[in-house]
Amino acid sequence: MPAPNIETIVSLSKRRGFVYPASEIYGGLGSSWDYGPLGVELANNIKKSWWNWLVYERDDIEGLDSSIIQNRLTWKYSGHETTFSDPLVDCRACKGRFRLDKLLDVQCPNHPGVHPGDDKECDLTEAREFNLMFRTTVGAVSSDEDESALAYLRPETAQGIFINFANVLNTSRRKLPFGIAQIGKAFRNEVTPGNFIFRTREFEQMEMEYFVRPEDAPRLHQEWIDGFQEWIGSLGISADNLKLYEQSKEELAHYAERTVDILYRYFPEREDEDKQWDELMGIANRTDYDLRVHSKKPEDAEGKRINPDSTDDLSYFDTQTNERFYPYVIEPAIGVNRTLLAVMMDAYTEKTNEKGETRVILKLTPELAPIKVAVLPLAKNKPEIVELAKKLKHELQPTMRSVYDDTGGIGKLYARQDEIGTPFCVTVDHESLEDNAVTVRDRDTWEQERVGVEALKEYLVERL
Ligand code: GAP
Repeated sequence: MPAPNIETIVSLSKRRGFVYPASEIYGGLGSSWDYGPLGVELANNIKKSWWNWLVYERDDIEGLDSSIIQNRLTWKYSGHETTFSDPLVDCRACKGRFRLDKLLDVQCPNHPGVHPGDDKECDLTEAREFNLMFRTTVGAVSSDEDESALAYLRPETAQGIFINFANVLNTSRRKLPFGIAQIGKAFRNEVTPGNFIFRTREFEQMEMEYFVRPEDAPRLHQEWIDGFQEWIGSLGISADNLKLYEQSKEELAHYAERTVDILYRYFPEREDEDKQWDELMGIANRTDYDLRVHSKKPEDAEGKRINPDSTDDLSYFDTQTNERFYPYVIEPAIGVNRTLLAVMMDAYTEKTNEKGETRVILKLTPELAPIKVAVLPLAKNKPEIVELAKKLKHELQPTMRSVYDDTGGIGKLYARQDEIGTPFCVTVDHESLEDNAVTVRDRDTWEQERVGVEALKEYLVERL
């Protein structure tokens, strides 16, 4: 049973230290969130899983970490300066500001239950395009309006990969097909952020650009669609809560030939089944659009260079066929934050104990669990028990993330670890001092097993 709604995860996150509202002591900042001690571990484990799966377990992918702020020309030639915008309308009556294409998703602040524009009092302006890139200036400038110093915070990590294509190709001596993977922050001045960490203005992406021969693109695109469903499944997300969505021709970005989104059931509480789903990730066939627009050679129909500013040509020379061409790009792009939300929602479970009380268990996979084992002393006023528990915690720590906790009775400590997804609790009791053994409790079954201290690490490693 996954979480019944996002609100359940918001409150668990705040209560246990996964995610807090940002700038909380100053009243917050719309749709900004900070990741607490457990949230940062969970996000890091998701990123590690993605990186291991792509960069370490395969033989055809290199990593990259490009700058958040690039030369403004990057965003001119990628098309973001002119096309990365949402159509906005204002209401002269309620003073609300809405995305024209999302009016049906929101309500008029003056008339709850009515979409903006649907009440006779609504007075919407003509739509205007609002560019989503955050602007900044680079260096000491005389004014914030100084166009020569204008720069943007990147709205996607992808462009940093395209403009480094030749660098990576030449230094890694790769042959097609090969990919470049990058994890990093992206920024979009979203008009209607919301739903907790689902849509925020600052977020983190895991993007991989897979460069292929044009004729191989449809087949390899499909392979990545299949592959990513498997990887998402390996995070513990049930296939029942995932589905594919094929973008229509009208929805496709200007650079894409085909895009398939993987949707997660983020809104299970909605009556209309169609409205329960939203995008977790997109997998696009971006054709050769990006490498062409950043290259100095390609010309338009009138023979004019489409990019007179670029100093390099990002084409590929195939030494076997003696052909030069611009590779096609298959791009699986997924948000860290949306993955974290889906992982938490899917892992959320409630269980009733023998006293009839409801307990929350976060059934995270051991790979993703922020803490792998909690070592708990049954009596914190007994120095020998505390000493042994602390010693065990320090012995386990180099192999697996472990914590020591003596801040409550054992029932409370177990409940806390269940709620944050710790797969095992190790309890040191009076008997441990006699038999040199401890009790290991399983998070999901609540079953307990007595394990000798000498064999403890091996026992846990095997099960984790
Ligand atoms: N380079 C392609 C690209 O950026 P996208 O669909 O705009 O494609 C990829 O973004 C992923 O990034 C999305 O599927 C989503 O997981 C995440 N994402 C996009 N905008 C987001 C936002 N405002 N807040 C949180 N995550 C976001």
